[in-house]
Amino acid sequence: MRSRRPSLTLRATLGFALVAMFSVGGAGLYLYESMQQTVMLRSDHAVLARLDHFRKLLRYDLTLEKLQSSPQLFENMLDSEEDIFIIGEPGKAPVISVNPLHAPLPDMPIASQDRALNDADLRSGMSLEGVPLRAASVQVMSGGTEVRLQAAHLMVKEMAMLASMRNRIIAAATLAFVITALLGYALLRRGLRPLRRMAEHAADITPARLDSRLDSHDVPLELHQLSDAFNAMLDRLADGYQRLTQFSADLAHEIRTPIGSLMGHCQVALRQTRSVDEYQALIASNLEELERISRLVESILFLARADEAQAVLERQPLDLEQESQRVAGYFEGLAEERELLIHTTGSGTVNADPVLLRRALSNLVANAIRYADEGSEILLRVSRHEREWLIQVENQGPALAATALARLFDRFYRGDASRHQSSDSNGLGLAIVAAIMHLHGGRVEVTQPVEGQIRFTLGFPE
Ligand SMILES: Nc1ncnc2c1ncn2[C@@H]1O[C@H](COP(=O)(O)OP(=O)(O)O)[C@@H](O)[C@H]1O
Ligand SMILES: [Mg+2]
Repeated sequence: MRSRRPSLTLRATLGFALVAMFSVGGAGLYLYESMQQTVMLRSDHAVLARLDHFRKLLRYDLTLEKLQSSPQLFENMLDSEEDIFIIGEPGKAPVISVNPLHAPLPDMPIASQDRALNDADLRSGMSLEGVPLRAASVQVMSGGTEVRLQAAHLMVKEMAMLASMRNRIIAAATLAFVITALLGYALLRRGLRPLRRMAEHAADITPARLDSRLDSHDVPLELHQLSDAFNAMLDRLADGYQRLTQFSADLAHEIRTPIGSLMGHCQVALRQTRSVDEYQALIASNLEELERISRLVESILFLARADEAQAVLERQPLDLEQESQRVAGYFEGLAEERELLIHTTGSGTVNADPVLLRRALSNLVANAIRYADEGSEILLRVSRHEREWLIQVENQGPALAATALARLFDRFYRGDASRHQSSDSNGLGLAIVAAIMHLHGGRVEVTQPVEGQIRFTLGFPE
């Protein structure tokens, strides 16, 4: 079983949901922190304000005896169970002690009566139930006696409020995660619909339906590139496929003609008894036909191998002057038959496969001899131009139309219908030249520098 990467939709939604959760949670945490600070500050101020108030009362108005005689008066002045207040002479049992939860007070510095109270006088502690408290203590002279006041605030309500806020933050963050995940998943699935459509489309394409294309207007911007590349790939495939089909059709056609003529000759010969001479002539002509087929098959095999880049190049430095003279010499006889002169000029060296280079050059010279105007000259020129070694084969001949020029290197293309029957013309010569140049990383080109002159150029990169 092939292991698959987790779905893009799932991963993206999960990512977004986590981001949403952390942002909501982070904002909540920030609010929580500032709220906690405010609440603490308020409770601290209340403790200090109370101490200050009673310090003044005891100093100027109230005495400890008076307070002792009516403690209710005092107790009523406190708000709730959460406040602790203890008044008494130091070292003696307190006169008043309001501490309903019996929370122990921490050790505190004792502020003198003249000093203004501030945050530094407060200490933190903890009730028996584990509720935090803040406490402070002052001392005052009241009617000649030393009186100590201790006040504290238990943060029961505050803690409950903060706890509830914490729960809300957790709930909000969870909700943000869930909602973003659900919505994100739905939206992404919708957004990725064009991708699924593309996949379905691609699945529908068969060799018989290579003409079908994706509709680029219909897809989002991000997929344009993909759909364009996909369509371009289909273009190339359709083109390659079409050429392949054409090639096999041409091939069948090419082979059918010589085989048909072979069969015809044999059938005619068999109708009656022939002389030995006649049989010999028949076999000789059949052999010629078979050689033609064999050459054709060999050429096609070569092209097929070159297509798959299977042909192994055995490169070596080649003297181009020598090579062109060698080919010119080889074709001298044929050229004389048509009263043609072959000239060679220039020199240079390229790294190439000798067999293939000679083959390419021979194909060009053979063409030049076949298609040149009788009695004209053929020129083989070696030169160097812009980091390239050029071998040019030029001949005089009838002007070719631009459309014909463009098709010269196509497989089985033959220009002049009247020459079709020529036994060594199969329309593959130039296709082989192009394939050889391609294998060498070079190029081939045909031009007509002036009317009635045709020039083939082989370019080898340095
Ligand atoms: N030197 C040339 N001058 C004029 N036409 C040429 C020349 N070389 C090739 N051609 C044209 O290109 C066609 C293809 O050439 P090629 O592939 O060698 O096939 P073939 O020579 O077997 O016909 C030829 O049929 C001919 O029409
Ligand atoms: Mg040829």
